Amino acid sequence: MERVEEASDLRRILASVRADGRRIGFVPTLGALHEGHLAHVPILAAHTDYVVMSIFVNPLQFGPGEDFERYPRSLDRDAELAQKAGVGLLFHPQVATLYPAGAETLVEVPELSAQLEGVVRPTHFRGVATVVAKLLNLVRPDLTSFGQKDLQQLVVVRRMALDLHFEGEIVAVPTVREPDGLALSSRNTYLDAHDRKAAVALYRACRAGFEAVVAGERVPSRVEEIMAAVLGAFPRIRPDYAVVRRLHDLKPMERLVGRVALMVAARVGSTRLLDNLVMEVGPDGVRETLA
Ligand code: PAJ
Repeated sequence: MERVEEASDLRRILASVRADGRRIGFVPTLGALHEGHLAHVPILAAHTDYVVMSIFVNPLQFGPGEDFERYPRSLDRDAELAQKAGVGLLFHPQVATLYPAGAETLVEVPELSAQLEGVVRPTHFRGVATVVAKLLNLVRPDLTSFGQKDLQQLVVVRRMALDLHFEGEIVAVPTVREPDGLALSSRNTYLDAHDRKAAVALYRACRAGFEAVVAGERVPSRVEEIMAAVLGAFPRIRPDYAVVRRLHDLKPMERLVGRVALMVAARVGSTRLLDNLVMEVGPDGVRETLA
């Protein structure tokens, strides 16, 4: 595995990969790698010939008072894990490489970004869209992966890539979970033992909503009530939202049909966690599906 910090080195290596006719897969990350990140690599490798991973704790997507300073950083360990997983090139730029002095261009997907996470984190998706646009321009991948766990991020990035005519495809990767259902997240390391136990509430709420739809419920507000009741049974959990949305634009629906997302966000102690479940509601039944 090669490791590069400079954009010029990245471009030089990728130019020769492309000149060999090899297809490039790409997974952008903040580092602090876990199995959820590493699961992207074989999925990209199945469709491309050379997998690039970026590790960059992007200051622009952290709001004031968020955890930018204390976000876990473990580059050498991450490099080892990335290499074992099959990454060909690890790009870990400095902040000044992606945001040189004088940089001021921002990428905004305003409507999709304002709702749900955007209510609590008003500048978050502008930071994500801006850094992902920069990374896509540097790497020019044939295929880029995003985790379904961060569903709104996936929907925002798909919209941005379409609107700005980025070449290359985007693929969603299923959420990797702990045995009890908790979605893997770098922020799980902030949870103490009590909070860790309670954190399973988010997954349980999504499952309960799904089971209600399987049993025939088609009214979104009733499914939302069921999800809220599950979260409410855990005293340590402070929910931000537990909602049912149309997958492609995350808008509320009147009746459940087609591709539907159950989305939950909650604080457990001082840690904010997310989860979701996507399903296809058809005339012949309901099945869980990838976003
Ligand atoms: P980060 O949180 O490091 O996540 C990197 C990628 O891994 C994202 O696409 C995320 O959705 C995915 N991921 C996280 N947990 C996962 C899990 N349990 N199962 C499967 N995939 C999982 O998301 C970001 O970084 C940043 O916002 C980024 C896109 C890199 C832009 O800075």
